[in-house]
Amino acid sequence: MSMDMSSNNEKVIAVIGATGRQGGAVVRALQAGAQFKVRALSRNPGEHRGLADEVVKADLNRPETLKAAFEGAHGVFLVTNFWEQGTDELKQATAAVRAAKDAGVKHFVWSTLPDVEAISGGKLQVPHFTGKAKIDRIVKEAGFAHHTFVIAPFYYQSLVGALAPQKQADGSLGWTLPLDPDVRGIHMGDITELGNIVAGAFAHPDEAGNGEYLPLVGDFMSFNEIVDTLNRQGHKFSFNQVPKEAFATLFPGAAEIADTFSYFQAHTYLGSDSYDQIALANTIAGRQPSKFSTWARVNFPVQIP
Ligand SMILES: NC(=O)c1ccc[n+]([C@@H]2O[C@H](COP(=O)([O-])OP(=O)(O)OC[C@H]3O[C@@H](n4cnc5c(N)ncnc54)[C@H](OP(=O)(O)O)[C@@H]3O)[C@@H](O)[C@H]2O)c1
Repeated sequence: MSMDMSSNNEKVIAVIGATGRQGGAVVRALQAGAQFKVRALSRNPGEHRGLADEVVKADLNRPETLKAAFEGAHGVFLVTNFWEQGTDELKQATAAVRAAKDAGVKHFVWSTLPDVEAISGGKLQVPHFTGKAKIDRIVKEAGFAHHTFVIAPFYYQSLVGALAPQKQADGSLGWTLPLDPDVRGIHMGDITELGNIVAGAFAHPDEAGNGEYLPLVGDFMSFNEIVDTLNRQGHKFSFNQVPKEAFATLFPGAAEIADTFSYFQAHTYLGSDSYDQIALANTIAGRQPSKFSTWARVNFPVQIP
């Protein structure tokens, strides 16, 4: 083993959200890389023993827990969970950045999203995107030796989770959404592959630790392309476009979801031509992310009636 490897072996990466999808992917990729010691952070460490080399308590709503969580860490991965009740992403991230600075952390990786407010000229309100973008400046200005922004895509997993096909009025299974299904606007990916980018960034700070934006993108599709891909694999899904105004009244929070789809349609998920960022992310990850069709064949089984 080289000198460099042995010193890296001592370096600890502390991972917020380690029990979730993004942080869990980061834990697994860091473990596979075997270059760093992994400290999984959770509000309930006792329920997740054995998840990583160390499992330590951290609650972003209780900044006093973050001192021990980041103590001696070389790197921190931070994701905040907009959807968890009581989450104030700005407050949580500010506390995490401050605690990481105080602990002497050298490399901070923040899972961000595009600034929809700026990109849409204030027309679209998508707080789970814009709220994260507003944190970028805090990370940048904190003055870490290295910092990296990763961008999670529209998870393929959403299509078998929160956005799974529903029974439609005509009896078919499918989607009713306020979105032109012909417009190619959705940057998508298998969220379990986010960790390859994050672990790569920690391993290559000179290439990826100077404020680079690294999006995970396995595919870039319209909704019709999503439906066609699935139907070629044996599904019989339908798609109905509904006016935004009608969709926005369907359930609590629907207005924000409607604005999210309007944003994808008008500006794309990433909001700009991101060819170079995606290419760099794949280089840093050391592999190409999975295409939707490949993921779907394994994870979107055809129901046999
Ligand atoms: N779904 C999508 O397509 C999509 C796309 C892009 C971005 N996102 C973003 O992804 C984020 C969610 O990430 P995820 O999918 O990895 O979530 P997830 O699988 O639901 O896991 C949430 C994680 O957050 C941790 N957590 C929540 N509150 C915490 C707190 N107060 N202190 C410390 N840890 C806390 C939980 O840890 P413990 O319970 O163990 O404490 C858990 O590990 C959201 O902000 C969302 O906007 C989602």
